[in-house]
Amino acid sequence: MAVVLTALLYVAGVLVGLFGLFVMTSKLVIRWRLGMCTSKASMKGKVVIITGASAGIGKEAARDLARRGARVIMACRNLPKANKVAEEIRKSTGSDLVEVQLLDTSSMASVRKFANNFLKNETRLDVLILNAGIVAPATLTYTEDDHELTMATNHLGHFLLTNILLDLVKRSSPSRIVVVSSINHRYAIGLDPDDLNNKKRPYLGSYQSYNHTKLCNVLFTKQLSHYLEGTDVACNVLGPGLTKTEIFAKLPGRRWMHLLGTIAHFGGKSNAEGAQTTIHLAVAEEEANTKGEYFENCKVSYSTAEGNDMGLAKKLWEKSEELVDLRPEERHY
Ligand SMILES: NC(=O)c1ccc[n+]([C@@H]2O[C@H](COP(=O)([O-])OP(=O)(O)OC[C@H]3O[C@@H](n4cnc5c(N)ncnc54)[C@H](OP(=O)(O)O)[C@@H]3O)[C@@H](O)[C@H]2O)c1
Ligand SMILES: *[C@@H]1O[C@H](CO)[C@@H](O)[C@H](O)[C@H]1NC(C)=O
Ligand SMILES: *[C@@H]1O[C@H](CO)[C@@H](O)[C@H](O)[C@H]1NC(C)=O
Repeated sequence: MAVVLTALLYVAGVLVGLFGLFVMTSKLVIRWRLGMCTSKASMKGKVVIITGASAGIGKEAARDLARRGARVIMACRNLPKANKVAEEIRKSTGSDLVEVQLLDTSSMASVRKFANNFLKNETRLDVLILNAGIVAPATLTYTEDDHELTMATNHLGHFLLTNILLDLVKRSSPSRIVVVSSINHRYAIGLDPDDLNNKKRPYLGSYQSYNHTKLCNVLFTKQLSHYLEGTDVACNVLGPGLTKTEIFAKLPGRRWMHLLGTIAHFGGKSNAEGAQTTIHLAVAEEEANTKGEYFENCKVSYSTAEGNDMGLAKKLWEKSEELVDLRPEERHY
């Protein structure tokens, strides 16, 4: 009897051991495959802005940074939704340093209001994360500023926001700017800085605009990094990889978009996994001085000839200044 019991216990012990080993290795494999942020850096005392933190990748980045002790300002367009998310993050992290501010990146008036209010109230900005984004609507849509909606939301609003806050970011250095682009930037064909708002070419629907804005995110980062040479501001751009977020479901009545959503659902990263490269660029010690690189899976990856075209980057910067009507007092580079 005692022998049988001992044998059973022994077998159980071995099984538990094997299971533990399995869990550990699969975690390691996931980390290796997806590129998890391994930094343990504390963010105590740091102030972080994340645009579009009410869902998906931005929300999980906000949660991680709150857990590390940062004061996190979630800059969001939908206050009731964002306030609920903030409450959930405060509960799950135990941090009471998470707050919501109104920001609609597609409206230059909203960007100016948010940014100037921030400058009035705050004395530092350690990390600025430009994450908010949409896939373009099926039909060509213009904002109150006469900007194409996707370009305004994904690029122009972030361009203006960064310019207004840049002096504070520099004064807070060592500091960082993290730009969320996409692998789609590699598929952007024929970006024309003279036609950012799609007034000349035909509108090809969701992905032409989206791809163009994501290339703008990369070129903006390159030009900004150039202006930041010699400063202690790290500034990089990333593609999070296919992630199971709300982004695919947000456009109603488009079956193939939903199909993409379904693919993302099976093959894609979880929201927390999709946030890892953003988190890595915001906290990892080894990136404190990295500038102008395109990252995937927490590692430097490659862009295209267009994504590295500094002539195009400069032209885009100048055209963006015109389109957002950048004022002398908003210019800090
Ligand atoms: N998911 C992917 O597979 C994938 C792949 C490559 C790149 N990305 C990029 O990752 C970023 C985050 O996307 P996600 O996948 O996490 O999508 P998501 O779940 O839809 O989250 C997008 C966030 O942006 C916000 N947003 C949209 N328009 C805004 C505006 N005008 N003003 C302020 N906030 C706005 C959304 O606010 P609401 O909650 O109010 O809608 C939401 O918080 C985007 O830049 C996207 O291009 C995603
Ligand atoms: C700044 O202060 C004003 C007035 O006290 C307040 O309404 C606003 O929410 C504050 N903004 C930030 C970014 O803290
Ligand atoms: C946009 O990028 C996707 C890759 O995700 C590509 O398949 C598509 O052809 C591109 N669309 C346009 C119009 O450039």
